[in-house]
Amino acid sequence: MSVPSSTPRGGGGTSTADALSASTEAFRAAGIADPGTDAEALLSEIAGVRRAELVAFGDREITGPVARAFAEAVRRRLRREPVAYILGTKGFRHLDLSVDRRVLIPRPETEMLVDLALEFRPSSVLEIGTGSGAVALAVADEVPGCLVTATDTSAEALEVARANSLAVGVGERVEFVEGTWGPPGDYDLILANLPYVPAGTRLEPELASWEPASALFAGPEGTEVIEEVLAGLPGSGVRAPVIGLEMGHDQGEVVGELVSKAGFGELEVRRDLAGHERVVVGRQPGTPGLG
Ligand SMILES: C[S@@+](CC[C@H](N)C(=O)[O-])C[C@H]1O[C@@H](n2cnc3c(N)ncnc32)[C@H](O)[C@@H]1O
Repeated sequence: MSVPSSTPRGGGGTSTADALSASTEAFRAAGIADPGTDAEALLSEIAGVRRAELVAFGDREITGPVARAFAEAVRRRLRREPVAYILGTKGFRHLDLSVDRRVLIPRPETEMLVDLALEFRPSSVLEIGTGSGAVALAVADEVPGCLVTATDTSAEALEVARANSLAVGVGERVEFVEGTWGPPGDYDLILANLPYVPAGTRLEPELASWEPASALFAGPEGTEVIEEVLAGLPGSGVRAPVIGLEMGHDQGEVVGELVSKAGFGELEVRRDLAGHERVVVGRQPGTPGLG
């Protein structure tokens, strides 16, 4: 095992252990929630080694480009820029996606939408509000042969999603379209993680100052974008027997009603790993069960 651009002690640099403890302390003083985790994530990615190796080789010196890149990353993190934007990448399912300030950083709970696709094994999916392309690309990656149409009202987000699609290599099965509904047609499944944070909510600086407000905030209730999109379904020319929507933990009742009003009368609310209600699944009456 080797630690690139680092050398045994004596070269005048900082040891890995000292760099980690100093940056962790600085992050903690700045009020960052997981200071040690962030310091290790930044250094391991920049040095190109696994986290366990950082600990095992704590006496190795960090020198040259790695030292400079890590110092710059620490400066950025102290301004509360999220780790994913600093590194330019975020893992989602089996994919490493490029992310920057044009898109929301994909969250682990959103993987529930991909789980739904895996249960249902659709031949075609419409994803509304694709952002980085995380859900659309993971579905294309994991559901063999599935054709995915993914939309977003943000042209900037779609640039990121298209670049991710090329990198993932499922481009011929995923089409990105600007707007909400894309071309009229029949799909097996609609998935969406639309903005659902109530306007005016005080968020951590990582979200409030860095992630796109248009990806986070709806109106005062938080359910307005979901409501607007569902209200547009009848006139969209899009049809699907099943819909899965991510939502805020306290929005199950309201979103359930909206989904039901949109014609998906059989409802199920699924909880995330933290036990919060997170996804509403609506089926048109008579749709065969999932799985
Ligand atoms: C919460 S982010 C989700 C991004 C991505 N699907 C994910 O889960 O990481 C919501 C996305 O929906 C897009 N959006 C907001 N309103 C929309 C609408 N009416 N139609 C389509 N996309 C919309 C935003 O631009 C943003 O990219």
